Amino acid sequence: MSQSKKRYMVTSALPYANGALHLGHLAGAYLPADIYVRYLRMKGEEVLFVCGSDEHGAAITMRAKKEGVSPREIIDKYHELNKRTFERLGISFDIYHRTSAPLHRETAQQFFLKLYERGDQFEERVTEQYYDEEYRQFLADRYIVGTCPRCGYEEAYGDQCEKCGSALSPLELIEPRSVLSGKPPVLRQTKHWYFRLNRHEGWLREWIGKGVLDGKPHHDPAKWRKHVIGQCMSWLDQGLQPRAITRDLDWGVPVPLPDAEGKVLYVWFDAPIGYISATRQWAMDQGDDWERWWKGEDVQLIHFIGKDNIVFHCIVFPAMLKAHGEYALPVNVPANQFLNFEGNKFSKSRGWGIEQHEYLEEFKDFPNKEDALRWALARNLPENRDSDFKWDDFVEFHDKELADNLGNFINRVVVLTNKYFGGVVPSLGNDLKETLAPVVALAEKWAAEIEDFNLKNAALLFMEVSTWGNQFLQEQAPWALYKANPEDPRIAQVMGAALQIAALLGYLAEPFIPFSAARLRKLLGMGAWARGDWSKAMASLKEGKPLLPEGHRIGKPEILFAKIVDRRDDSRLKIIERQKAKLQAVLEVETKNQAPAFPPIADQINYDDFARLDIRVGTILAAERVPKTDKLMKLQVDLGLEQRTIVSGIAHQYEPEQVVGQKVLVLANLAPRKLRGILSQGMILMAEDKNGRLVFVQPADQGVDNGAKVS
Ligand code: MF3
Ligand code: ZN
Repeated sequence: MSQSKKRYMVTSALPYANGALHLGHLAGAYLPADIYVRYLRMKGEEVLFVCGSDEHGAAITMRAKKEGVSPREIIDKYHELNKRTFERLGISFDIYHRTSAPLHRETAQQFFLKLYERGDQFEERVTEQYYDEEYRQFLADRYIVGTCPRCGYEEAYGDQCEKCGSALSPLELIEPRSVLSGKPPVLRQTKHWYFRLNRHEGWLREWIGKGVLDGKPHHDPAKWRKHVIGQCMSWLDQGLQPRAITRDLDWGVPVPLPDAEGKVLYVWFDAPIGYISATRQWAMDQGDDWERWWKGEDVQLIHFIGKDNIVFHCIVFPAMLKAHGEYALPVNVPANQFLNFEGNKFSKSRGWGIEQHEYLEEFKDFPNKEDALRWALARNLPENRDSDFKWDDFVEFHDKELADNLGNFINRVVVLTNKYFGGVVPSLGNDLKETLAPVVALAEKWAAEIEDFNLKNAALLFMEVSTWGNQFLQEQAPWALYKANPEDPRIAQVMGAALQIAALLGYLAEPFIPFSAARLRKLLGMGAWARGDWSKAMASLKEGKPLLPEGHRIGKPEILFAKIVDRRDDSRLKIIERQKAKLQAVLEVETKNQAPAFPPIADQINYDDFARLDIRVGTILAAERVPKTDKLMKLQVDLGLEQRTIVSGIAHQYEPEQVVGQKVLVLANLAPRKLRGILSQGMILMAEDKNGRLVFVQPADQGVDNGAKVS
C-alpha cells in the first residue's frame, strides 16, 4: 500500500506591525510553534513554518495618526523590529512575510474574487455608518469614541469599552464623536460585502465537534484543546451571522470590483490569507510549488495563536477556505491562553511587563539569554489555563533545571570521560539496550507529547531524562569503582551509557533551548543535526546501538549554564534584581498616586505634653444644625461630671439624628471659644480618612461610663 507522506503547514498569528511584542505574545503563538517545528524537522517531516506582519487595519492607521506619520513608516519600523527580534530569539520561521507586499494584495484579491464569483457566498448590504464630514471619511469602529451605555465611561471605543470590557457597536455609544475631527459624526449610507458565515454553520459544527468533514473523518477532536472547542461551540450556539468583509478606508487591500471605489478588504479577511501569500513568496524564492503546502489530503495545516484569535482561525478562516473549495482545513488550532506578568496583565501604559527586544537589550550581558527566556516560558506555557511569568521562577527554572540538573549531568559526563578515558568513548557493554530502556521510554513519551501539542509536558519530560541520568550516575558511582580499581570494566559500561543519555539530551533540548543544544552537541563532538536525525537516533537506541560509538572523541569540559545565584559572581543576579526594582518602582509610583494626602507625623512630644490633654468619654444627647452654615452642628454632650455645649464641623456629613446617642471622645480642657455666637466648650475627636470623610473616634466598649478619662 502506498501511503502519501504528510506535509506540515505551520503558521503563527501574524502580529500587527504597530508595536513591539512582549513575552506574552512569544509564549502564546511563536515559541510553541517553534518548538513544534523544530521537533518535526528533527524527526524528518516535511514542514514549512510561516509568519509575517499584519500591516492593515485600524490598529496601524491609528498608531500612525498618533505619531503623526504615515502608516508606511509605522509598518516598516515594526516589521523590521519584530522580524529581527524573532530571529534573535531563534524563532525559526522559513519566511517572515508582510501583508503590504504586492504578492499579498494579489493573493487576497484573487481569493476574494473566487468567493465573489461563486455567487452564493457574499451578499451586498447598504447600511448606515458613521461618517466624519470634516475629514470626508467613514469611521472605523476604533475611530469613534463616546460614552459607554453600560458603565458610563466617556472614552469608550466604537467596538469596545476598555473600562468595563463590554463589546459595543458604534451605534450604541452615547454622544459619539470622531477621533479625527473631535466632532459628532453623521450617519451615511454605504455599501459593503458580507460573507455569509451563517451558511457554513452546519458543517462547521460537524467538523469542530466531531472532526468530520464532508462525511469523512478529518481529525481527532479529542486532540483539540477543550477551551478551543468550547469557545467555538459557544459561537456556533449563538448562531453565525453574515459578516462584513469590506471597509471604507484608504489603507488596505482594495476591493477588486469596479463599483468599490475607496473600499478595502477588512483586515481580518486579508490577514489570514497572508499565510498563503507568505507560502507563495517562499515557494517562489525556493523554486517550490506553493500549492502542495495548501491543497490536497497530505496537508497538515496547524495554526498557533492566542485565545483572542480563536474565532478567526477556527470558524471564519476555515469557512473562507471551504468556500473557496480547493484548500485543506486546519487539523488542529492549538491556541494558548494568556501569560500574565508578575500577577498582572501585561500593560505597556502601566510599564508592567517586558517586550522581547527590551529583554534582549537588558540581558545583553547574560550568557544564554535566549535559551534562559525560552526555557522559562516553555516550561510554564499557558496551554490550558493562563499562567504567570515571575522573575523568581525564571531564576529557579534556570538554576535548578538548566544549570543544576542538565548542566550538571553533561558536565559530569564530559569531565569523567576525559578523566577516565582521555575524552574518548570507551568500549560499550552488551546491555546498553536494557540500561537505556527507561530513558528511551521517556523520550518516546516526550515525542508523543509534542505531537499532541502538550509542549509544557514535553519540556518537563526532557528534564526528567536529565534527572534520570544524574540518578544513574549517582547510583552507579563510577568514581567509587575507579577508586577501588581503575581497570574495573563496569566503569566503561556506566560511562558509555551516560554518554548516550547525554547525546540523547542533545536532541531533546533542541526544540526548547536550541542555542544550548547546539553547544551541547558540539561539546559531545556530535555536530549539527540533519533533518530526520531524531528518528534515526531513536531507532538506534531501541536496538541498543549507541549514538556515540566506541572511539568517538568528545570535547573538553565547558560550563553550559552559569548559575544566576552565585556567591562568587553576582552579575547575573543583578540583572534580575534590576528588573524587579523596575516593577517595584511602578508599584510605588502607583501607590503614591493613589495615596491619601495624610499630613506627615507631627513633631515629637514627651509624655507630659500628652498628659496635659484631658480626654473624656461622653455621649451626644442632642444635636442641631447651626443656621446659615454648611458644616457646623451644635451638640449637647454628657461628660458624666457635667454637660457641655460643643460646636463641631460635621454637619456636611451627618444628620443631627444620626449623631444623637453616639459615644464620643471629647477633648475636655480645650479653652472655650465662640463660633457663630455659640460658646463651644471642648472638641469632639474625629478621624479623617483619605477621602476626607470624618468618622467618630469611639471607645471600643460602648458600655464605658461617661466621664471616663483617656490616658
Ligand atoms: N494581527 C492579529 C492580532 O495580532 C492576528 C492576525 S492572525 C491572521 O491579533 F491570521 F489573521 F493573520
Ligand atoms: Zn463600559
